Amino acid sequence: MSFRLVLALTAALGVGLLQAQAPAEKPAAPATSAPAEAAAPAGPVKPGDATAGQAKSTVCAACHGMDGNPATAQYPKLAGQHENYISRQIGLFKAHTRDNPIMIGFATPLSEQDAHDIGAYFAGKTSLPGVADTKLVARGELLYRGGDASAHVPACMACHGPDGRGNPGAMYPQLSGQYADYVTLKLKDWRDGKTWGDDDRAKIMPVVAKGLSDGDIAALASYIEGLHAVGTGATAAK
Ligand code: HEC
Ligand code: HEC
Repeated sequence: MSFRLVLALTAALGVGLLQAQAPAEKPAAPATSAPAEAAAPAGPVKPGDATAGQAKSTVCAACHGMDGNPATAQYPKLAGQHENYISRQIGLFKAHTRDNPIMIGFATPLSEQDAHDIGAYFAGKTSLPGVADTKLVARGELLYRGGDASAHVPACMACHGPDGRGNPGAMYPQLSGQYADYVTLKLKDWRDGKTWGDDDRAKIMPVVAKGLSDGDIAALASYIEGLHAVGTGATAAK
């Protein structure tokens, strides 16, 4: 995917955001009563059930926290993350295209329904806000909101939203409050050529991150950790 294509995607987002406001269209139930309902495991994947997801996520709590806010910055926050993004990542770990030995181990036993249930559970939680480094916040904000045309870096805000809440309809993840350590690790991975696969979605971030310097990555990661879901901008204090 080229930089120009990412820009086109970014531009198309004005429409995407509006569409996300409309109630999700569900295909109407078939008029004929299908016998599929009778055999429980054979049916299509249903929207996630948060209550079932809570029970299925106890094993995840050791690292990601009971409510998706981990006790240490070593693990990514899942609180408030979108259901479809979480289930997609579990699928990517299972397929080994997103290569992390720990998560491949925990994702492999999960069914697609488990992934949606767990996703629904964490999506209902709230990401605890962090703070940005005062020395980095200006550069971070500039990049997040406006990008850097000279380095071919698009504005993060175009897809991840002004407050970092992302766009579940387009499967653009929430970033607000995410730990800077984790964000730094991911941005460096992409810049240095790592990918999460070769579908269209996975091709976006390697292009976005290509022109980022180490300093830019540190500034963005700090800004994102301080970014709030409510209001705009990041809290800077350190
Ligand atoms: C032993 C610690 C550990 C446990 C237990 C664990 N994880 Fe993770 N998880 C990680 C690490 C480390 C990462 C970051 C992987 C990376 O850097 O790509 C991660 C990443 C993730 C991501 C991607 C987050 C993102 O923002 O892209 C999801 C989703 C996830 N884990 C879900 C789960 C689920 C569901 C469970 C329980 C079934 C679980 N994890 C159990 C350590 C753990
Ligand atoms: C054109 C849309 C688009 C733009 C612009 C964009 N992103 Fe992303 N971003 C994505 C998508 C899509 C994913 C998820 C990729 C996947 O699921 O394979 C993602 C994932 C991420 C993640 C991983 C989140 C997690 O929980 O693991 C981080 C961090 C991130 N982006 C940071 C940034 C930053 C910083 C910028 C600006 C320099 C940016 N993004 C610009 C679309 C975009």
